Amino acid sequence: MTTDYDRIGGGAAVGTVVEEFYRRLTADDEVSHYFKDVSLPVLKRHQALMITSILGGPDRYDGRALDEAHAPLNISHADYDRVGSHLMACLVDAGVPRDIRDRVGTALGQARASIVTLQS
Ligand code: HEM
Repeated sequence: MTTDYDRIGGGAAVGTVVEEFYRRLTADDEVSHYFKDVSLPVLKRHQALMITSILGGPDRYDGRALDEAHAPLNISHADYDRVGSHLMACLVDAGVPRDIRDRVGTALGQARASIVTLQS
């Protein structure tokens, strides 16, 4: 079966998207402060593994649960929306087809409750 992961070009494509995603997050004054004391190589690796599994590629995610990783960060809905928009824009710019982007968007929506802890 051809997965979304295969269709977009596998690990190389995911790696390109993840690099660009964190380039944009660390350049965005609204959210860059979240990432300044974080090991970006570790985060990129975990994010790539998570996106790989969302796309139907090998499920090798070995990071923390999303609620555990994000709870100390006090993330608002606005921050969540901003980060989600960056990811979706990276997928558009990488040429990822719409049907696949829609499935990623659904997965992101399901993650919102695990990530947002600041109700304002
Ligand atoms: C849109 C959905 C999101 C997904 C799927 C996601 C995914 C992840 C993953 C897989 C990790 C790695 C966990 C680990 O290394 O154990 C992580 C960590 C992190 N995320 Fe997210 N994230 C999302 C939204 C956000 C938002 C909105 C922010 C900030 C505004 C954020 C900031 C961070 C930070 C700073 C870390 C590193 C935490 C640490 O190492 O202590 N994430 N995220």
